[in-house]
Amino acid sequence: MTLTDSHIHMTTVDLLIGGTETTAAWLSWTIAFLLHRPEVQTRVYEELTNVLKGQYPRYSDRRRLPYLCAVINEMLRLRPVAPLAVPHKAIRDSSIAGYFIPKNTIVIPNLFGAHHDPEVWPDPHSFRPERFLQGDGSCLRALIPFGGGARLCLGESVAKMEMFLFTGYLLRDFQFLPASPRSLCLTCVVWPAWS
Ligand code: HEM
Repeated sequence: MTLTDSHIHMTTVDLLIGGTETTAAWLSWTIAFLLHRPEVQTRVYEELTNVLKGQYPRYSDRRRLPYLCAVINEMLRLRPVAPLAVPHKAIRDSSIAGYFIPKNTIVIPNLFGAHHDPEVWPDPHSFRPERFLQGDGSCLRALIPFGGGARLCLGESVAKMEMFLFTGYLLRDFQFLPASPRSLCLTCVVWPAWS
């Protein structure tokens, strides 16, 4: 198969669209939820302060910051930026969880449904980062926000790094508050310790 200008064009468009709107939407939802959950912001800030002693987080610190990871995962679960992933077509007769899928069937993975199943996620519509913390204090990673299989999100690794660093840096230095109790607008203040 020859690589044409059209392939290069579409691949670049894929990367630009897939790589910008997704993480931007995730960050907007995260700030929107944290605005109304100051205690979550404080807990992330305290974890960052206790573990990193004032340093900025590096991606290699992620295992030492389980609560920050839990907040990131809870936002990926609660507001998946790709709720229906993308349509796939079965290239041969197949099956999913015992259901027969004939060749050429279009399959649309319902990631929103998977992340809101009350049998897996009690109280699925609430923002509860603690649900990802395990008994030993580590952060559970049982999520599929990036889809699965051979056509899983190409940018998963870079997106995970971006989400971790953006949130870590922002919550280390800022507290996000509603401009007024009834307002949907945003204001932020520098944490006293760093001002
Ligand atoms: C929070 C961030 C992101 C989420 C939740 C996300 C989610 C997804 C999902 C669900 C798919 C469809 C997978 C499937 O069909 O099973 C996908 C595909 C894709 N994503 Fe992402 N994505 C994110 C960030 C990114 C970034 C940062 C990039 C690029 C730098 C990217 C590039 C792509 C590309 C190129 C595909 C198509 C892959 C293919 O069809 O083979 N994504 N993404």
